[in-house]
Amino acid sequence: MTDTEQPLDLTRQYALDRDCTTLSRHVLQQLHSFSGDAQDLSALMSRIALAGKFIARRLSSAGLIEDALGFTGQRNVQGEAVKKMDVYTNQVFISVFEQSGLVCRLASEEMDKPYYLPENCPVGRYTLLYDPLDGSSNVDVNLNVGSIFSIRKQEGEDLDGTAQDLLQAGRKQVGAGYILYGPSTILVYSIGTGVHAFILDPSLGEFILAQENIQIPDHGPVYSVNEGNFWQWEEPLRDYIRYVHRHEGYTARYGGALVGDFHRILFQGGVFLYPGTIKQPEGKLRLLYESAPMAYLIEQAGGRATTGRLEIMDVIPEKIHARSPLIIGSRDDVALVESFIQERDRE
Ligand code: AHG
Ligand code: MN
Ligand code: MN
Repeated sequence: MTDTEQPLDLTRQYALDRDCTTLSRHVLQQLHSFSGDAQDLSALMSRIALAGKFIARRLSSAGLIEDALGFTGQRNVQGEAVKKMDVYTNQVFISVFEQSGLVCRLASEEMDKPYYLPENCPVGRYTLLYDPLDGSSNVDVNLNVGSIFSIRKQEGEDLDGTAQDLLQAGRKQVGAGYILYGPSTILVYSIGTGVHAFILDPSLGEFILAQENIQIPDHGPVYSVNEGNFWQWEEPLRDYIRYVHRHEGYTARYGGALVGDFHRILFQGGVFLYPGTIKQPEGKLRLLYESAPMAYLIEQAGGRATTGRLEIMDVIPEKIHARSPLIIGSRDDVALVESFIQERDRE
């Protein structure tokens, strides 16, 4: 080596390699394949990432744009007041899949019926199920929100457009994940080979691999639940809350957006609960768009998700907008909640 030559900086080379691990490359790596199927899933994840970039961009300047915040005055199929951002984010997911040849049908909590992209059928064998804007009560006060997605393969032709094939257990999912719009935009996904997190680098406009094979701790200090509903729950849930109040080592965290609350628990352990109430025995969260995708992720990360009586991944919905109670998180913490419910069931 001459005096002017610099030694090769291997750390810099590794950092560059990591920075080049984009989402589409990561999917192909996970599948160890360049087959048509692998390319399709990779392209599908890229389009979801594109939707995430559009939404992150609009959220970051929502307070400055006319007509971005507030309500539309409409109610959705679940009877909830619709926000302008619900409509925008729902449309973004549709638009990114137009002319994609990937997704023939999209189903979202904001649409009464599945939405067809006829130009993609019958080539596009996937259905995307999604909650385009999770935690929408946070959006007008600049707090974290998210998007949740679930990927299933279309079974049959669905000639009457009723999507009966979607009324199957969460185990039918071929992938799931969420995008968290917080101080940074983070995409977490699984296609059945562990759970992986990507952070949006705004200067590149790319999601870059941040953490692979995330495993949730078996126990964590956090319990995350809307305690304002305490008197609406069945007694075993109240017993569980009384238990954590009386024992050291527990702390409450509740942000009002499942994606944010789940993200904390995935990384730090603990349990998130949205139980049934007297008014809504099935709880609030929608099985196909919220509970099942999160259950898919938590199982891949070594945790558990249950209604209290049935694993979420085994629940078969009666209709596409069905709701389910959700208890999700670290194995030991979910088991503790379950023990209160099962003890009462035995009596
Ligand atoms: P969405 O904004 O998609 O309707 O979902 C809101 C959900 C979920 O994100 C959150 O965990 C829960 O509703 C909060 O509900 P409460 O306000 O009843 O606690
Ligand atoms: Mn939601
Ligand atoms: Mn929503």
